[in-house]
Amino acid sequence: MIVDINHGDVGDAAAADPAIETTGEAGQTALRHGAQDRDPVVAHEDLEGEQDKEWLARYEQVHVGVFGTPLRVMDHGKGTRIWDIDGNEYLDFLAGIAVNSIGYAHPQWVRTISEQAGLVAHTSNYFATKPQIELAAKLIELAGAPDGSHVYFGNSGAEANEAALKLAKLHGRTLPGAASSLGGKPARILALTNGFHGRTMGALSATWKPAIRKPYEPLVPSVQFIEAGDRVSLFEAFARTGKGKYGEGPVAAVILELIQGEAGVRPLDPDYVAAVRNICDANNALMIVDEVQTGIGRTGQWFAFQREDLSGGVTPDVVTFAKGVAGGFPMGGMIAFGQKLSDLFTPGIHGSTFAGNPLGASVALTTLGVIERDGLLANARERGEQLREGIMASGNPLFEYVRGRGLLLGIQLTRPCAHAAMNWALEHGLIVNPVAPDTLRLAPALIVSEADVREGVSILARIPQDLPND
Ligand SMILES: Cc1ncc(COP(=O)(O)O)c(C=O)c1O
Repeated sequence: MIVDINHGDVGDAAAADPAIETTGEAGQTALRHGAQDRDPVVAHEDLEGEQDKEWLARYEQVHVGVFGTPLRVMDHGKGTRIWDIDGNEYLDFLAGIAVNSIGYAHPQWVRTISEQAGLVAHTSNYFATKPQIELAAKLIELAGAPDGSHVYFGNSGAEANEAALKLAKLHGRTLPGAASSLGGKPARILALTNGFHGRTMGALSATWKPAIRKPYEPLVPSVQFIEAGDRVSLFEAFARTGKGKYGEGPVAAVILELIQGEAGVRPLDPDYVAAVRNICDANNALMIVDEVQTGIGRTGQWFAFQREDLSGGVTPDVVTFAKGVAGGFPMGGMIAFGQKLSDLFTPGIHGSTFAGNPLGASVALTTLGVIERDGLLANARERGEQLREGIMASGNPLFEYVRGRGLLLGIQLTRPCAHAAMNWALEHGLIVNPVAPDTLRLAPALIVSEADVREGVSILARIPQDLPND
C-alpha cells in the first residue's frame, strides 16, 4: 500500500478553530476532543463514523490507483492539528509531507490568499506581479546567492528539478568535448543511488528507486547513477570523460539531496558533499542541490546547504525548492547562482503557464515572513532536538536511533513494521509516515510547540512491539 498523505486541505479558519464546538453533517459533534483535555492514547476506532468509509469508496470509483486507498478523508485543519470528516482529531507530524510549514489555516496565510484572490489570481507570463518579483528577490537573499543570481518558478518539486536539469543540459553543451558539431559526446548528468527527484520524465531519470523508474524506461539518456557517499564511484564517473572509443562525454552536473528524504531520511556525509563540490569545480560541472524537501527552514536553516554538518560548508550552483515554500500552495522553483549560469535560460527556452503565479507567490512571501518573524528556524532546531531526545528517551524498544536534522527526522526501527506502526499511531491520533519498511518519517510544521512534541512522543512511546512486519 502506498501511504503518501499529500492532500491536506486548508479549511475555513473560523470553522477550523478547535475551541468552537460545531455539529457535523451527520449530526455528530465535529470536534470530539479538544487538544487540552484529550488522552493522547485514546484509540480512534471507537470514534470513527461512517462518512470516511463512504467517501473512500467513492474516491476509489473515480481516481486512478496510483496513491492506493487514502488513509482518511480529511475535512479541515488548524495549526498542527487536522480533523477527518468523522470529526476525529490528529496531531500532524507529517504536515502534508513537509509542506505545511506554518501549519493549517494560519490566519495570515488565509488572509493573504483571500486578498490576493480578490486582486489577481493569475496573469500569464506576458505579465508580472509584485509578489512574484519580491519573492524571487527574497529567496535569492535567504539563500545568500551571489549578485547576478536568478530564480525560475514552477509548480512542484519535480518541475523545479526539470528546470535545473534543463539548465544543466544547456551548461553541458558549453563544455569541451560535448559539441556535437565537432564530433563530441553528449554531456552526462550524475545522480546518486537512493536519490529522489520527482516523477516527471526528466526528474524520474535521476531518481534511483527501480520500482518507480523502470516501468518508464527508456528515460532521458546520459543520466548515470553513482553510489551515494562513495568517492571512488564519484571519481570513476568523472574519470570516464574522454576522447576515443571508450571515453564518455563530460559531466555537466551532479544532482543530489543533502538528506535523502524518500530513501529514509539519510543525511550524506558532509566530507563527501565537499568532495563533490571539489570535483565539480575541477571539471566545470554544476552541483545541483535538491532542497525540495530540506529547504525553507525544515532543517533549522533556510536551506540545508547552509548547515555545515550537511554540506561541509560548500555552496551549490543550483538549488531547487518546493514543498514548504508556499505553506500548502503548489509552488516550486530553482535558484541559479550567478549571472553566467542564469544567462543560459534565454527567452522561450523554458516555461510553464502557472510559473510565478501570484496566489502562490503571495502566500510564499507570507510563509517566509512568518518563519522569519516567529523565529521558526530556531524552533525547528529546538523542537527537532526535543523530538529526537524524547524518542530516544521513550524507552520504546522498537526505536533504534533517530536520523536527520531539525524537523526532518527518521526513526530507525528495529523491525520492518513501519506501516503497522504508522497505522497504530494514526488510530491513536498521530500522523507519521512509513518512508521505508524500517523507518518512520517525522516532518511536523515548523510551528510545532513543546507541548505538541511531548504529546507526539507520548503516542510514539506506546507503539506496541507485536506489530506485523510490512
Ligand atoms: C527531494 C525531492 N525532490 C523532488 C521531489 C518531487 O516533488 P513533487 O512531488 O512536488 O513533484 C520530492 C518529493 O517528495 C523530494 O522529496
